[in-house]
Amino acid sequence: MTKEAFRLISPGGTESELPVRTGTVGPDVIDVGALYKEQGVFTFDPGFVATGSCESDITFIDGEKGLLMYRGYPVEQLAEHSSFIEVSYLLLNGELPTAEELDTFDHTIRTHTMLNEGMLNFFKGFRYDAHPMAMLSAVVGSMSAYYHDTMDVHNPEHRDIFAHRILAKLPTIAAAAYKLNIGQPFMYPRNDLDYTENFLQMLFSVPAEPYEIDPVSARAIDLLFILHADHEQNCSTSTVRMAGSSGANPYSAIAAGISALWGPAHGGANEAVLKMLEEIGDKSQITKYVAKAKDKNDPFRLMGFGHRVYKNFDPRATIIREMCHKVLKQLGRNDSPMFELALELEEIALKDDYFVEKKLYPNVDFYSGIIYRALGIPTSMFTVMFALGRSVGWTAHWLEMISDPQGRIARPRQLYQGPPQRDYVAIEKR
Ligand code: CMC
Repeated sequence: MTKEAFRLISPGGTESELPVRTGTVGPDVIDVGALYKEQGVFTFDPGFVATGSCESDITFIDGEKGLLMYRGYPVEQLAEHSSFIEVSYLLLNGELPTAEELDTFDHTIRTHTMLNEGMLNFFKGFRYDAHPMAMLSAVVGSMSAYYHDTMDVHNPEHRDIFAHRILAKLPTIAAAAYKLNIGQPFMYPRNDLDYTENFLQMLFSVPAEPYEIDPVSARAIDLLFILHADHEQNCSTSTVRMAGSSGANPYSAIAAGISALWGPAHGGANEAVLKMLEEIGDKSQITKYVAKAKDKNDPFRLMGFGHRVYKNFDPRATIIREMCHKVLKQLGRNDSPMFELALELEEIALKDDYFVEKKLYPNVDFYSGIIYRALGIPTSMFTVMFALGRSVGWTAHWLEMISDPQGRIARPRQLYQGPPQRDYVAIEKR
């Protein structure tokens, strides 16, 4: 559909017709690509608050309605009926698989889970207490040192191999990072297990005794992977796209995404929420911490609250909150003091004018840590769990970006505020 162009008239009277582009759903965008050529000005939008950085077919969010869809399917439906591996197929291929397609995809992922033994040696170089996110990004980046024979980004077969490889091997790398932290031997993957069961096995089993997978834990983790699988142009995904836009190999681009995810404003928030709840410690302290979060002179923020896009509620948080109730009950821990504290904090914050006016709601990270904790996953692994889920989203976006015939290197402009041109002054005259 063609829409009337946006007319922009500069103070000097130069007129530009800026085309308006329409998506299948969501707000239109004004194409400002010709603005500098026609008007000699750039647009300015730090943090990309009102800027679309690309066209995408993968994920849609309506922040006002609290709607999240992967390839058109609402996340609630996928959470109820699907599995992480099926959602991965959907994100990568655009359609839900037939039974046969799912079987083939599942088999491919299950049979590519092992790491080259040499890669396990990398872990020996890390300190025993290295943060698992540091190890994850380093080891994923170093995959490019192993697979340089299949890294031609213009070769569709190489791209396909990369997509399967990253999805299949990331859990093995993540589990090895944890095992190093606790001084236990690395556990090899078991291809008879599904994606999530295999991860739990590599995380929690030891060679000395049999390990029984708890189906409640496996389902809960699988669901959390689904909820984290993609979130359109968030910080880490945009980082993957940006790093990849230079033609850099995809392992490096994913390593860059993992690093971006680690920050507390993004995926690092789930770890930060647990630390915050531990610091608050008791319901009697909540008002003090809410006041700190509102204080402009205090850098403290309520972690797990607020979102750039969701201004009503985060649909993932709603599902996870419900899941928290269920999982804690099934594990016989429905009296979890941490969960009680989180519920009370949520209630107090949601009634507070500051949070109401700024439309700050609990986000995906507010409750996920409580479930991870109940399932025995250590706090330092929380953001790694996020990375495992998001790895498929990063991969789908990298594939979309690199296959776009109109793709160009991502290269923003700036508003320079430094000194204007000046001449070099000899050192004795300064
Ligand atoms: N506690 C207290 N005040 C807050 C919070 C919070 N958690 N979040 C935002 N605000 C205030 C902020 O101070 C600002 O106030 P003012 O307009 O008076 O300056 C206003 O709300 C808008 O915040 P902003 O930082 O400009 O909003 P943003 O869209 O740039 O940031 C955010 C979004 C998620 C980074 C931010 O809300 C935040 O830091 N939240 C805590 C960290 C967190 O939970 N992150 C996980 C995000 S969801 C998962 C993911 O994407 O990885």
